[in-house]
Amino acid sequence: MSEQILQAIAAIEAQARAAAAAAASLEALQAIERDALGKSGQLSQILRGLKDLDDAGRKSVGQAGNVAKRQVEAALAARKSALESAAIAAALAGERIDPTEPAPRRAVGHEHPVKTVMRELEELFDSMGFTVVDGPEIETDFFNFEALNIPPHHPARDTQDTFYAEGGAVLRTHTSGMQVRAMRNLGAPLRVVAPGRVFRNETQDASHEHTFHQLEGLVVDEGISVAHLKAVLDELLARLFGERVATRLRPHHFPFVEPGLELDFQCRLCMGKGCATCKQSGWIELCGCGMVHPKVLQAGNVDPERFTGFAFGLGIDRLTMMRHAISDIRWVMSGDLRFLGQF
Ligand code: PHE
Repeated sequence: MSEQILQAIAAIEAQARAAAAAAASLEALQAIERDALGKSGQLSQILRGLKDLDDAGRKSVGQAGNVAKRQVEAALAARKSALESAAIAAALAGERIDPTEPAPRRAVGHEHPVKTVMRELEELFDSMGFTVVDGPEIETDFFNFEALNIPPHHPARDTQDTFYAEGGAVLRTHTSGMQVRAMRNLGAPLRVVAPGRVFRNETQDASHEHTFHQLEGLVVDEGISVAHLKAVLDELLARLFGERVATRLRPHHFPFVEPGLELDFQCRLCMGKGCATCKQSGWIELCGCGMVHPKVLQAGNVDPERFTGFAFGLGIDRLTMMRHAISDIRWVMSGDLRFLGQF
């Protein structure tokens, strides 16, 4: 009687251990455990017959049952840890990072076309010995107007109406305020350019924006004349267009220069014959410029008896529009991705 039971126990153990060794998942292991060792599993059912045995039989069968149980448990535990380490190894293999693999190409942004022109101009003037200076967009009335010979009720203020901030500060209407700041900070002689954003209270249309960009140029030294001004702007155009470009100076009034001028260059589309772009004139306006007014030199603590200087104010948005044939200035600051994506 007990002999048969011992054989049955050995069979259950052997079968359960083989099944455990072959199990492919933790779920399969649980099922094996339940079948062999569970409350109504094979081993329990056999051991229920213990009560019908004599003492000796009960003892040997009981021991054999316990040994079998431990053997099966050990086999299950061994397989379980093998399956777990295999799972970890598989996960690691899946997540392995190859540091030599090139990064995936992603659509990242790029420099704004106005910024590109600005940077190129900075590089160009830097190569001509100019220092690039930066100034505040929220400017005082003094630097934006008064120091530039534009007193409080001067009519020139009408053409440059702006946004007034608290405490009398203004959003600067041009970069010309940097002329006096630069002279005060750096003294004469000096060569500076001051690029930046400027603001005007404008009714917007295809050629007017309330926010746009300028680059101010200022050279102060002994014996500076209009010839120097023209030479620098001619050089600028030659580098921008890759060849010499015809220019002309026209008188124009700005309170902070005397004489005040505007520099035009020959239209690149019709080569001076007249077309829609140059409004049939053959010329395109590049910038306001002139010889720095003695009062402005004085405001900059520069002796007008000893020094003279020239200044100019380039419109960067206009140059950008010419470069890319942009017909409406309102696109420039729109932030519209359909526009920006084209550059
Ligand atoms: N600040 C003037 C403007 O914005 C341009 C200018 C600069 C004119 C320097 C003369 C000298 O219109």
